[in-house]
Amino acid sequence: MQNILVTGGAGFIGSNFVRYMLENYNYKIFNFDKLTYAGNLENLTDIENHSNYKFIKGDICDKDVVESTIKDNNIDTIINFAAESHVDRSILGSREFVVTNVLGTQVLLDAAKNLQLEKYLQVSTDEVYGSLPEDKKEIKFTEQTPLTTNSPYSASKASADLLCNAYYHTHKLPILITRCSNNYGPYQFPEKLIPLMIAKALDGENLPVYGDGKNVRDWLYVEDHCSGIATVLEKGKIGEVYNIGGNNEWYNIDIVKLILEKLGKGEEQISYVKDRPGHDRRYAIDSSKIMSELGWAPKYQFPEGIEKTIKWYIDNEPWWRKVMSGEYLKYFDKNYSSKVK
Ligand code: NAD
Ligand code: TYD
Repeated sequence: MQNILVTGGAGFIGSNFVRYMLENYNYKIFNFDKLTYAGNLENLTDIENHSNYKFIKGDICDKDVVESTIKDNNIDTIINFAAESHVDRSILGSREFVVTNVLGTQVLLDAAKNLQLEKYLQVSTDEVYGSLPEDKKEIKFTEQTPLTTNSPYSASKASADLLCNAYYHTHKLPILITRCSNNYGPYQFPEKLIPLMIAKALDGENLPVYGDGKNVRDWLYVEDHCSGIATVLEKGKIGEVYNIGGNNEWYNIDIVKLILEKLGKGEEQISYVKDRPGHDRRYAIDSSKIMSELGWAPKYQFPEGIEKTIKWYIDNEPWWRKVMSGEYLKYFDKNYSSKVK
């Protein structure tokens, strides 16, 4: 393994992963990204001239460009982060989710098969397992939990996982799949809960909490997700799925209150709004497989991670102001009444 194609490397987790790999390994990293609304090369300005890094603008659905990129750069490994990633957007319109997350994955799998790559790692999500009962805290998602998808986003991600499995069984493609819980940290697009609430709290705006605020998510600091993927890439058993999570369940409302408290703002900024349709109640992930079999463990506890994250958004206000401005807000409407462009 020498030359890794990281698709979607200009997004939130992908850009953190590119940086993590350049800092901790000696692989050549080729970042292949279409630069959708979520892709931002400003996430990578600190490493853009690194000798082991190259950016290539491209669409994972474009077979010819994918195959020529692999050939021209002697790519031997693909790690697929590229996706439409926001549940609310998938409710407004699911077509892009199917095109990128399913057909795009199929193009990458075919290219990996045709060009006989050494490894293909699919970055998936715990959302493919559906929703857990909130009153049975002892139940968590394991790798054996059946796929039960409730949003167009999770349905598209699960479809991609099933395709990966099919290429492993039918074509013996060397596949690995990771399924991680909710990430937080620097460079997360402020449409997702934590950065959105930080930005709105700083601006003195209302913080929109869906439903009763008692939905539960299991939060992991993004660098720990990156180290988990790197661990699976190096030590994972081909054909296997690995869950990655922080054993860190929080009610949404408690996260929102914590952010307000850390920023010295009052709870009168909280505004309960109409619930997200089909809103999964609880996610919680059992990471014992990656921990016991591959020796991975998260480095950051939540108090430290959230502190670092809030500080990053305070210190990088121009970054989030720019991504939140203009076009993005024009076509994204929280009442689920407008269409994604
Ligand atoms: P993101 O939306 O921030 O970034 C997605 C990136 O993919 C962007 O840079 C975008 O430009 C790129 N992209 C989109 N369509 C493309 C295409 N057709 N061709 C090439 N590039 C394209 O997403 P993220 O939060 O960084 O998530 C990355 C991956 O991790 C996704 O596959 C997501 O399902 C998965 N994941 C995310 C989380 C989370 O909490 N954010 C948790 C578990 C798994
Ligand atoms: P999100 O960050 O969109 O991640 P996901 O839906 O993939 O888990 O949302 C996290 C939780 O926060 C989810 O239960 C929905 C809720 N939420 C709000 O209450 N208000 C908001 O404005 C957003 C974006 C999310």
